[in-house]
Amino acid sequence: MSEVIAQEHKQSKWSMVGKDPYSMPIEEIDLSHPGIWQANQFLPFLERLRKEDPVHFCRESAVGPYWSVMKYKDIMEVDTTPDIYSSEPTIGIVDTFEEFTLPSFIAMDRPKHDEQRRIAQPVVAPVNLKNLEELIRKRVCRILDNLPLEKEFDWVKNVSVELTTQMLATLFDFPFKDRYKLTYWSDMATAIPGGGLAKSQAERWEAIEECLAYFTRLWNKRIKEDPGFDLVSMLAHGEATRQMPPEEYLGNIILLIVGGNDTTRNSITGGVVALNEFPEQYEKLRANHEHIPNMVSEIIRWQTPLAYMRRTATKDTELRGKEIKAGDKVVMWYVSGNRDEETIVRADEFIIDRPNARKHLSFGFGIHRCMGNRLAEMQLRILWEEVMNRFHTVEVVGAPERVYSSFIKGYTRLPVKLHSL
Ligand code: HEM
Repeated sequence: MSEVIAQEHKQSKWSMVGKDPYSMPIEEIDLSHPGIWQANQFLPFLERLRKEDPVHFCRESAVGPYWSVMKYKDIMEVDTTPDIYSSEPTIGIVDTFEEFTLPSFIAMDRPKHDEQRRIAQPVVAPVNLKNLEELIRKRVCRILDNLPLEKEFDWVKNVSVELTTQMLATLFDFPFKDRYKLTYWSDMATAIPGGGLAKSQAERWEAIEECLAYFTRLWNKRIKEDPGFDLVSMLAHGEATRQMPPEEYLGNIILLIVGGNDTTRNSITGGVVALNEFPEQYEKLRANHEHIPNMVSEIIRWQTPLAYMRRTATKDTELRGKEIKAGDKVVMWYVSGNRDEETIVRADEFIIDRPNARKHLSFGFGIHRCMGNRLAEMQLRILWEEVMNRFHTVEVVGAPERVYSSFIKGYTRLPVKLHSL
């Protein structure tokens, strides 16, 4: 156990790190605390709940009482019944970030959700993605061509963060020289005060205000120009969004930054981790690059970059015989549904030519299904095409370091070495 994780375990009375998921009383299992996610100890907890208590009530936790939905089919039911399982007031397990939550369409119900989503959607329409493909490939090639061979470096910083940050700058038509600000704001928006990046809530808030000020300047510039195809222009000119109050604009901007940032970043890293854990799959890929599009879906399932989405029951209801009351928090653990053997055969294995690989839960389902899913897949496909054209192996040479979060399922560092063809 690393020093940081050991310390977390000692400090928090809520930590599950080091506990035996099979011998502890099942009612005490709490998936919301970040410790087991950072320590990579979550899988046996998910397995036990799926088998013994698939709709599980956690009465006491640092974030209050909540339900955990563990099975693929039940998650589908919750995600596709938005009238009973509302996305308001928030899709995070914590009710508010202390005194403040930002509104955005991922945390809205119909009809406002649909109106705002419609405005942002064209940026990821197939025709726009096609236009972006060449630019993404150029950027991927430049990043890969500058990496050292046979020398250790951090894949997260040098590839995953770099590529997704450049993509985000493109989507917002954001000044390229300032693009690292986007990563910083995204990381601060999801940071847990005291958990590493943000020392306090005040520091977090300072970063978010800086983000608002910057994007307000961009908005003021775009509103004077003809409507364009970047996200800021679309929000500034869109009928449903142009009168948005500042906090709603900021909430939507942060949604798009976080949506397009952490998730894709952690899939890029997750793919390297998966191929190293399953070397026979790496061999299969080397023998036939046509597996790449299917492998991309398998990476996104295996990694599940967002572990859950939360809903709030709008009325009393029943799920798998459990009585859920109006107002209860209901957490859909996509990460568990994606490992559910009842729906997905050999679910713990990474299989690049898995049939129906796209049938995973990582993008959610229903009215909130990820808006950027095709963009994310395209980025990953291009990346792997170009990686395979250049390198025999991206070898993991040290333990991956993971994010301290039960929501963002990802990596802070991955030491690798590249070996040429
Ligand atoms: C592998 C990468 C990605 C994963 C795993 C992912 C995952 C998700 C999930 C789980 C949801 C919520 C689904 C639900 O509640 O049913 C979502 C929503 C969303 N995602 Fe993604 N996402 C990814 C990439 C992206 C990208 C690249 C963008 C940028 C354009 C993006 C933008 C959004 C937006 C705007 C929403 C809100 C949709 C709505 O509420 O209608 N995502 N994503």
